Amino acid sequence: MLADLPEQSPDALLALIKMYAADPRKEKIDLGVGVYRTDDGATPVFAAVKGAERDLVERQDSKAYLGPEGCMDFVRCLMPIILGDDMAKSDRIDGMQTPGGTGGVRLAVALAQAAGAKRVWMGTPSWPNHAQILKDIGMEAATFNHAADGATDMDALKDAIAKADAGDAFLLHGCCHNPTGIDYTVDQWHEIAAIIAEKGILPILDLAYQGLGEGLDEDAQGVRIVMKAVPEALLAYSCDKNFGLYRDRVGAVYVQAAEADHLPRIMSNAASFARATWSMPPDHGGSVVREIVADDTLRGEWLDELAGMRRRMLQVRARLAEAGTAGSVDLTPLAQQHGLFAMLPLDKDQIQALRKDHAVYMAGSGRINIAGLTLGNIDRFIAALAKVSG
Ligand code: LMR
Repeated sequence: MLADLPEQSPDALLALIKMYAADPRKEKIDLGVGVYRTDDGATPVFAAVKGAERDLVERQDSKAYLGPEGCMDFVRCLMPIILGDDMAKSDRIDGMQTPGGTGGVRLAVALAQAAGAKRVWMGTPSWPNHAQILKDIGMEAATFNHAADGATDMDALKDAIAKADAGDAFLLHGCCHNPTGIDYTVDQWHEIAAIIAEKGILPILDLAYQGLGEGLDEDAQGVRIVMKAVPEALLAYSCDKNFGLYRDRVGAVYVQAAEADHLPRIMSNAASFARATWSMPPDHGGSVVREIVADDTLRGEWLDELAGMRRRMLQVRARLAEAGTAGSVDLTPLAQQHGLFAMLPLDKDQIQALRKDHAVYMAGSGRINIAGLTLGNIDRFIAALAKVSG
């Protein structure tokens, strides 16, 4: 029986990790999966995380089960950071811990589906796993164009909203759009919030890179604007990138209810999905985040580390933009974009040639991870790009 299972291709993004590791060439450049790297090409554990882990080893006295919602001190300590101090006090918003942002997106979509949403609209290209999650849950996906000519395609979004039915959900990236790096401006967020509120759309906001764009508050403006405008919203959050806790799988889902007394009933649905899917989320990473946020010294250290990451990515973006063009690729728009990612207009053969002839690894979509570029490899990358696209 099991022998009859058809072969599934490995996740294309995750497959790059192994392909890169197996390449013996010393000068190889990894622009694949979205992890932050220092200028030495390393992805170290944050000093703040190490500090919190040391504290946990000393003080944690039990690892007994908590429940499907995970650690609520973790969930609630993030609320002022995500929502701002005032909104964090709302009795219409609460959340639960999930295994990474993926768990948050999955739970948000499952809740939307259980509540009667027929379709989830999303701008494309999007993070490839968004489509996989929708398919796996059995939710219809409808798409619109996310960006055109280096800017968000507001016409395509408005057209999609006009076509959508009340009660459809829209999956929107809060900041540092994956894969394009092209975000909505504050004015555009206000416009979007007003139209989706008027139409009765349920927003599913995916905030996986807070602090990696312009700053913690700046990167959360979009989700705050939308949540203020609508009665109900779902928000998936990831600490995997902004605390560098990737493999510890640290995330949450937040629910904004129309009335405070709806919230316990909605959260009971979230709890039962969690119980049937992963029972309860892993605790270690969430405990680390909770310790960091609660401790002034660790929190200061974390904020400094996050600011350093931002600065480095801005420097890489500025250096790429300074190069102007590489072959047929215009690199100048990259300076205006945000976060880890940018899309280069390369075809499959060019991406293949970069890998084969120049040991440059990037996603098959043409997405590059900006943080994979360093002072030591950026000129080589630009030269390789010029060669394959010239
Ligand atoms: C990425 O897009 O590279 C990251 O979000 C990692 C992942 O899980 O795909």
